[in-house]
Amino acid sequence: MTPTLGVCYYPEHWPEAQWAEDAARMVETGITWVRIGEFAWSLMEPTPDVMDWGWLDRAISVLGGVGLKVVLGTPTATPPRWMLDRHPDMLAHDAAGNPRKFGSRRHYCFSHAGYRSECRRIARLMAERYGRNPHVHAWQTDNEFACHDTTISYSPAAAEAFRDWLAQRYQSTDALNRAWGNVFWSMSYDDWAQIDPPNLTVTEANHPHQLDFKRFSSDQVVAFNRLQCDEIRAHTDAPIIHNFMGRETSFDHFAVSRDLDITSWDSYPIGFLSDRIEETPDFKARFLKQGHPDNQAFHHDIYRACGAMRAGDVPANGRWWVMEQQPGPVNWAPWNPAPLPGMCRLWAWEAIAHGAECVSYFRWRQAPFAQEQMHAGLMRPDNQPAPALAEAAQVAREIAGIGDITAAPAPVGLVLDYDSIWAWEAQPQGADFHGFDLAFDAYRALRRAGQSVDILHPDTADLSGYKLVLAPGLLKIRPALGAALEAFSGIALIGPRTDTKTTELSIPTPMGPNVADMDVTVSLTESLPPIASEPLEQGRFIRWFEHLEGTAPVLLKTAAGQPAIMGGAHLRYLAGWPDHETFARIIRDLCAQAGLVAEDLPDGLRIRDTAEHRFVFNYAAHPVDWNGTTVPAAGVIWQPL
Ligand code: GAL
Repeated sequence: MTPTLGVCYYPEHWPEAQWAEDAARMVETGITWVRIGEFAWSLMEPTPDVMDWGWLDRAISVLGGVGLKVVLGTPTATPPRWMLDRHPDMLAHDAAGNPRKFGSRRHYCFSHAGYRSECRRIARLMAERYGRNPHVHAWQTDNEFACHDTTISYSPAAAEAFRDWLAQRYQSTDALNRAWGNVFWSMSYDDWAQIDPPNLTVTEANHPHQLDFKRFSSDQVVAFNRLQCDEIRAHTDAPIIHNFMGRETSFDHFAVSRDLDITSWDSYPIGFLSDRIEETPDFKARFLKQGHPDNQAFHHDIYRACGAMRAGDVPANGRWWVMEQQPGPVNWAPWNPAPLPGMCRLWAWEAIAHGAECVSYFRWRQAPFAQEQMHAGLMRPDNQPAPALAEAAQVAREIAGIGDITAAPAPVGLVLDYDSIWAWEAQPQGADFHGFDLAFDAYRALRRAGQSVDILHPDTADLSGYKLVLAPGLLKIRPALGAALEAFSGIALIGPRTDTKTTELSIPTPMGPNVADMDVTVSLTESLPPIASEPLEQGRFIRWFEHLEGTAPVLLKTAAGQPAIMGGAHLRYLAGWPDHETFARIIRDLCAQAGLVAEDLPDGLRIRDTAEHRFVFNYAAHPVDWNGTTVPAAGVIWQPL
């Protein structure tokens, strides 16, 4: 595969006379794809049912005319103001019950039937008009589902749809009462109409009630996306994409991806480190202008796995893009530093090394008005080049010289399960137990050991290609994965918390984990505040510590002599949340036992193998020597394998 570059462009923000020059300059930069349209509903349909396609026809023809391939977005993230007059009850409601009003974007509830049919209508009209347009080579549905916390809505429409979802899932209120344990605190229902979403309760709502509401909300996103995909597919063979977000877990991205030909995500490394990743001030200072050295790769691997869902393929072959790549300072984090020179190139190459078919920068030209006027683009608002333009052009030249890039199956698999993340959100038991962070900590340790990783769906039935598999924090190991673990000839490390609950978030008997014939039981659970930890023979557990019993061999002990890892040659259970150093050591030992070369890479240095090359990325702000090579600050080098 030869990777490509793209850019996000808003023709409606600029005078029409400017379009041709912009298009020519994109081509000159080495850009192949241009994404347009995703927020332009009020221009496509200025008044209800009166369409104005003229400007969009012309924009597509100007861009396509110079050879650019258009990704056309459906504008459903930004319903026009008149839509609210048509559907006054279409807004999402927050947990306090207040409508989330017009004046920015994403002002809709996924469950609102009227708005859904409007979305279906606009998708159909667009697909009818542009489905066979020779310049439209891909489609994007909506924009960043979940952005601004919009998956969960407590609106009347959502409440109604939730009752319906529960009735389908449980068939009778008796079954629901049993599943949720509603005998506790006299919480039983005898009519579906009595059940509300789990907000505004006096104290915490019952955990399975919360978990089912998260499941329901995720299913609403899946259904919402599917409606649009169905309309678009009826008129085109071009691939359908959605642009997912980073560190967003409020819906099941695997499930949405089943309807997508290609997945993508929006990568803002500096914004994420500033805003969304818990790290020490020292770490944040070291990587202030580079982003977290593992965060981008983690998401690349997640969305590559998602990109394999529709075809039912192995994760290595997943089709995915970066739809939006940070080009300079963003506007939305609490503080917004500029990338170090070189980072806009490094980030692109890191995506490509993980198999991205396209890296598309957000956005072409910085807007001089509205909410994102402080967000950089490849061009400045005065139409002079911004620093990232030259880096994008450099990546384009380098792509032309490097030849084929083929994603190789990784030797290590890491199971990620959205349902489990929701379960622990509903029932954290320790204030800082986040399932996504636990998976990320495992991933960091693997990256520090120099491993390339495939993210695995929780129903993965075949692990035979892997030497090492991790499954941290899985609510329940379902049958397919259980059988795969039983047959696994490499080493699998599960836990903490893995397979310790039922699907409805109760404690099973026998108590878990109940995987294969491993005789290990979690008999008691402790969560640990930040002021405490559980020392091990080597290292320590933070946040979480489980007391284990059973006859399986003890492979690592706490300083007090309790089991910290138990299990046999192939399947083992980890009884806590190791801190970074401890996790790194555990993973290095496992890699060595599994026959993998375990590195201990310097801070900021990371590697990734494709079929043809080893890529070495240096996120540090200074050059780093590694294996006889100097990798420049904020730089990337590659060597043939
Ligand atoms: C993304 C979004 C874009 C733009 C960008 C700014 O979340 O998809 O429309 O807002 O952030 O960084």
